[in-house]
Parts: sequence; structure tokens; C-alpha cells
Amino acid sequence: MSGSKTATLTIDGQTINLPIQSGTLGPDVIDVKDVLAKGYFTFDPGFVATASCESKITYIDGDQGILLHRGYPIEQLATQSSYAEVCYLLLNGELPSASQLQEFSERVSNHTMVHEQLQFFYRGFRRDAHPMAVMCGVIGALSAFYHDSLDIKNPEHRNISAIRLIAKMPTIAAMCYKYSVGQPFIYPRNDLDYASNFLHMMFSTPCAETEVNPVLARAMDRIFILHADHEQNASTSTVRMAGSTDANPFACIAAGIAALWGPSHGGANEAVLRMLGEIGSADRVEDFVRRVKDKSDSTKLMGFGHRVYKNFDPRAKVMKQTCDEVLNALGIHDPQLELAMKLEEIALKDDYFVSRKLYPNVDFYSGIILKAIGIPMSMFTVIFALGRTPGWIAHWQEMIANPYKIARPRQLYTGATQRDYVRVDQR
Ligand code: CMC
Repeated sequence: MSGSKTATLTIDGQTINLPIQSGTLGPDVIDVKDVLAKGYFTFDPGFVATASCESKITYIDGDQGILLHRGYPIEQLATQSSYAEVCYLLLNGELPSASQLQEFSERVSNHTMVHEQLQFFYRGFRRDAHPMAVMCGVIGALSAFYHDSLDIKNPEHRNISAIRLIAKMPTIAAMCYKYSVGQPFIYPRNDLDYASNFLHMMFSTPCAETEVNPVLARAMDRIFILHADHEQNASTSTVRMAGSTDANPFACIAAGIAALWGPSHGGANEAVLRMLGEIGSADRVEDFVRRVKDKSDSTKLMGFGHRVYKNFDPRAKVMKQTCDEVLNALGIHDPQLELAMKLEEIALKDDYFVSRKLYPNVDFYSGIILKAIGIPMSMFTVIFALGRTPGWIAHWQEMIANPYKIARPRQLYTGATQRDYVRVDQR
């Protein structure tokens, strides 16, 4: 960060000079730390105007619909690179050479199996538990299995944990699915690439090995890339916040998974498909849009709107393209895709959405692709978590490798002022 500009804040005739910092891209940032010494806090519920950290990983220009990972546009990464490359890029800051990529992929492959004892952990859950509930528990439990790499001050331990998390996430996610349908867990195959291995663990059984369709593996890989990181979103901020207490990385990622689960965040992909199912047919779209606009009705158009994007989410554009490719390749005609397109067309012309700059986000089309691949709705947010793992880890690593403070926001207190306790028999 650099900067010579200053902002001046005047309160009751008292002047506070606040330094202004400039990044390499994006708006300047007013450093408000000095207001504390003058007896003030700043107030910004939902952190809509607050930069919580300095970061070199991902940049978003919400007005222009731009998303860059380490400077590379998401459209180029999604269509030209692989998820393994993007993981390496997020973690290391640069694209890998061919030999670095091979070494990284081999290292990840070497860690795809989970401790055999971990499978017994699943049995404590009901079969009908939501896979995200299982995921939160099992990922948190990893810290009980991998004691040998929990020293967060040791960079080698941090790197091993990062590789373990990226490697084991697909295995654990597929185990969540297998447990829910009552099928045996399937071991990973290290001769397959990351996405193909995931599809193998999801759909093979001990009686029949599934031949992974390369079109679907490519689509899966692209979905992982499109979810890989997204700057300081709610789950990533949660990971950083948990990490700021020096909690171990498995606990931090479990916290991120919990934050991702909500329908305003990663849970939206599941909610979109449920919404399309509720609307049912194209002739009911206009009526649904009326409900969304009605302020006395809490219905939202899921998969639309974003805190940062006030334009098309660039991930949504690639996702829609991938959706068309997958459905064409499989020869599937999905009426829900037509419904989604009609909904998008109507919303993009409607003043309610136009004036609020609400556009389709990454979740609007992802569910239709996942459904075509054969992934059940309850697994959609698990897939998001799997894809987001390198982003969470890269942010955690970036924080731990640099000076940081425990995250401890302040508040505007509006509760009772001090009063004396009254015994229960006297109330
Ligand atoms: N449908 C209807 N109205 C909406 C929607 C929507 N999807 N999103 C925002 N609005 C309205 C909102 O009611 C408000 O209206 P008003 O100014 O009249 O009160 C205005 O637009 C501004 O919305 P906001 O709630 O202040 O915006 P936010 O930045 O706090 O919320 C959001 C962002 C993503 C939570 C919200 O747009 C939303 O709930 N969208 C649907 C859920 C969804 O698709 N989430 C996935 C986000 S992308 C994946 C990810 O990165 O997690």
C-alpha cells in the first residue's frame, strides 16, 4: 500500500487527519485506525464500505463485472486453464511451469485418501442429514486426525495442511453423497485428474466402475475454477476471522463452510433450483416476479444480485456458456433452463431489477449444469465449498504469513444503561 493523500474528519471542532492508502487497483481506502485514539469507532454494518485487510490474491471491479485472480481474468482461467493450475496460482501467486504443475498435482494426488477411521465418523450422522451439515462436522474433525501439521507458525505445516485440504475435499464430499444414498464409500483413483476423480468417487460403485465422460469432467473442473476464490466474501472473511485467533486451518475451513451454507451465499445454488421447481412453468414467471417485487413478500429472485457486482457477474456468463455446452453434449433438453432464461430476460428488463443493478450471479445457472451431471440438489453447496477451498486457504495463508491482529470489531451499543440488580422476589 502507498499513499500521500489524507482525509480530514472534523468532529466538534476537533480535526482528525486520516491517511489515504492506494492499492494497485480499486478505490482508495481511508485508514480510520486513528479515530480510536480520539474516542470514536466507525460504524459500517455488513462491512459494506470497510476493507478488512490488505490482499494480493483476487480483485473484483463490481461496476465493470471484472474478476481477476492474481491479475488473470476469470474468463481466461475458466476456459484455458485447469483447476489444479488455478489452485497453484491462488496459493503461490504465479502460474506454475509444466513441471511445477505436475509436481503439485502429484502431491495433491498423494493425499486424496482420508484416514480410514474417518469413515466411522459419518456413521454418527443420520442418513438424511444435509451433506453440508456432515461436511462442517467432518472437515472440523480433520484437526483430530492430522496433528502432525497443526503448527500454524511453521510454513511447512501450513503447506501440508493446504495440500491435504485440497486433496481430501473431493473424497470427503463424495463420501457425504455416498453416505446419504446408503452406498459404500469409493476410494480415490490417483490416475485420474481432480475433477474426473471426484466424479468417479461420486458415481462408481464397488460393482461397477463409472467411465467418466470427459465433457462432464471438463464442466466439473470449470465449475470448480469459477468458485475457486472471490475476495473477502462472507465465508472467506469468516475463515480469516477464525484464523486470526490462531485456530488450526481445518477448524478455520469448517467455519468457512458453515458461513457458506446460507442461502444468501453458497446455499443460493440449491435455492435457485428449488425456486425454478416452485415456479414450475414459463407462464408463471411474471407472477413470480411480481411477488419478488412486492415488499410485503419476502420472496427473492435467487441467483440474482450481489454485494459487489452491480453488473453481470463474469462467472455467470461462463457458467451459462458451460450450461449450454453440457446440455448439448448430453442431448438434454431441460425445461428448467428455458424457465431460467425467461426469468433472466424478464428481470433484466424490469425497472425493479434495473434500478437496483441486480444481475444474474454465479449461482443462477450452476444448478442446471450440476443437475445434468447427475449431482443431487443437496450436494450443490458442497460442490461450492469444494471449489472455494483453495481460495479460503490462500487467504488464510496470506494472513498468517504476514503481521495480523485478532479480528475484533466494535459496536454501537444501544442497550440498557447501567442499573442495579433487583432480587427475583422483589421484581
Ligand atoms: N431479489 C429481489 N430483490 C433483491 C435481490 C434479489 N435476489 N437482491 C437484492 N434485492 C434488493 C433488496 O431487497 C434491496 O431492495 P431495497 O433497496 O428496495 O431495499 C436492494 O435490492 C439491495 O439489496 P441488498 O440486500 O441491500 O444487497 P446486499 O448487497 O446486501 O445483498 C445478496 C446481496 C447477494 C445477499 C442479495 O442480492 C441476495 O440475497 N441475492 C439472492 C441470493 C443469491 O443469489 N446469493 C448468491 C450470491 S453470489 C454467490 C456468492 O458469492 O455467495
